[in-house]
Amino acid sequence: MIPQKIALITGGSRGLGKDMALSFARRNVNVVLTYNTNEDQARQTVKEIEDLGIKAACLQLDMAHFHSLDGFAQTFSDILDTRFQCSTFDYLINNAGMGQTVPFTEVTEAIFDQFLNVHFKSVYFLTQKLLNSMNAEGCIVNISTGTTRFSNPGYSVYASMKGGIEVFTKYLAKELGTRNIRANVVAPGPVETDFNNAAIRSNPQLKAVMSNMTPLGRVGAPDDIGSVVAFLCSPEAKWINGQRLEVSGGINV
Ligand SMILES: NC(=O)c1ccc[n+]([C@@H]2O[C@H](COP(=O)([O-])OP(=O)(O)OC[C@H]3O[C@@H](n4cnc5c(N)ncnc54)[C@H](OP(=O)(O)O)[C@@H]3O)[C@@H](O)[C@H]2O)c1
Repeated sequence: MIPQKIALITGGSRGLGKDMALSFARRNVNVVLTYNTNEDQARQTVKEIEDLGIKAACLQLDMAHFHSLDGFAQTFSDILDTRFQCSTFDYLINNAGMGQTVPFTEVTEAIFDQFLNVHFKSVYFLTQKLLNSMNAEGCIVNISTGTTRFSNPGYSVYASMKGGIEVFTKYLAKELGTRNIRANVVAPGPVETDFNNAAIRSNPQLKAVMSNMTPLGRVGAPDDIGSVVAFLCSPEAKWINGQRLEVSGGINV
């Protein structure tokens, strides 16, 4: 019997990551997801996956604490062993993240360092630390943002870090090809989640502006994104490598 594939999704407790987790489960892929503080929501997502007949587990991970990554890698290895009876996995989805609207002139070193750790440094080194556990024909998807292509006031530090992982992804695609591992970027446009203090959901005016910027006349929903990530990891997408796929309804096209 062919062993079932396993996806690790950081920030899978809610929002886009939760939809990615469910999308993988619908494709018969086992899931390990991470949360930072919302253990209850993470467990709820695990339950929804298990209700589909797919194995799942959740682990705590704080990308802001770079020095916790080694401990996380060990815990992840342990859970592969105990819950999935294997030592390797297939798909790494670097999705976890947070947002804050801060004008360039007000960005402090502390804010800069927080975004650097969560959105770039920890993504870079978590990928490095987990690489030797990835199977051939594996796939990495790094979640970026539409705001690397167009500018959104107050997003200078956030989008700069996301720009960093877009460049990083091209290098992954180049250097991991010999291991038969692909790497791509998914760049969502504005999606109505808890992101950035639920900026879109809690601000109808902003939501209307962003909807009007989008040819399809609305902002995104989590289920616009997860299925694309799961597709990119599937055999149907086996020739897509080193690409940035914007999933935004064509905002600012
Ligand atoms: N929503 C959008 O409009 C949008 C647009 C473009 C790109 N994105 C990107 O999409 C990704 C997911 O965003 P989302 O909208 O799903 O946000 P969300 O609903 O706020 O969910 C964020 C997820 O990341 C986890 N997380 C937050 N801070 C973390 C940290 N320091 N360490 C580890 N995990 C952490 C959260 O865990 P807890 O539940 O435990 O807090 C949660 O699972 C982010 O990378 C974001 O930059 C979002």
